[in-house]
Amino acid sequence: MARVALVSGGTRGIGKAISVALQEAGYTVAATYAGNDEKAAVFRAETGIPTFRWDVTKYDACVAGIASVEAELGPIDILVNNAGITRDTMFHKMTPDHWNDVIATNLSGLFNMTQPLWSGMRERGFGRIINISSINGQKGQLGQVNYSAAKAGELGFTKALAQEGAAKNITVNAICPGYIATEMVEAIPEKVLQEKILPQIPIGRLGKPSEIARCVVFLASDDAGLITGSTLSANGGQFFAG
Ligand code: CAA
Repeated sequence: MARVALVSGGTRGIGKAISVALQEAGYTVAATYAGNDEKAAVFRAETGIPTFRWDVTKYDACVAGIASVEAELGPIDILVNNAGITRDTMFHKMTPDHWNDVIATNLSGLFNMTQPLWSGMRERGFGRIINISSINGQKGQLGQVNYSAAKAGELGFTKALAQEGAAKNITVNAICPGYIATEMVEAIPEKVLQEKILPQIPIGRLGKPSEIARCVVFLASDDAGLITGSTLSANGGQFFAG
């Protein structure tokens, strides 16, 4: 039986590439999304991957959503915590909403999605948790105090939970993408992208979603069983960290 993978925010951007790459690698895949029904319908039609709509900021919604995925597809073996948002603004203009929305989705979302399926992975003696963090959690980014804090928090979550999962054959790892060509990066003002960001990327281009998806497929595989609590940086040389 094919292993079952759940990808949060799996219908668009990096998440879409991850869902498709896992499907191509032979997994049974489900993708969650928060609200864009139209994009989710296009994704479903293109890929045949089932989609589930719920809000990762709500613990009870995650419990119910995960139960419905497992009822349809079987126990979840691989969780990719990819759902994430930006609310970029300079700190002097940052409101509690800018802060709380990003922390709730990008950091509390990890707890809400992972905790309900953790006991099942422990009982079955296998699991892969892959958290999509960011270069900006490693290095900090002007205009992203909220996002950088959440993404750095994901790295602490990863390293701590990896220690708990190790004895049960559950690995927990993070990937830190650099600037990847998705809608999130397209939202950056063009002048800022061209003059401030691209010159900082030694390979001289944005990353492709498929380049992050390949990292996920590797970390999900049996070949990656020794790797846990790690951070895989995929950023074109923009920032070096282990
Ligand atoms: N790197 C270096 N300098 C930057 C910068 C960046 N990423 N972003 C902005 N700046 C500079 C601006 O050029 C400007 O400098 P000057 O005054 O010398 O021209 C200064 O910072 C202030 O910026 P703005 O004039 O644009 O100020 P604003 O208040 O209008 O907007 C902002 C601020 C919303 C932060 C806007 O600049 C912005 O969106 N910047 C991009 C921030 C960013 O990199 N976000 C990453 C999004 S992609 C992502 O999050 C995915 C991932 O994981 C990598």
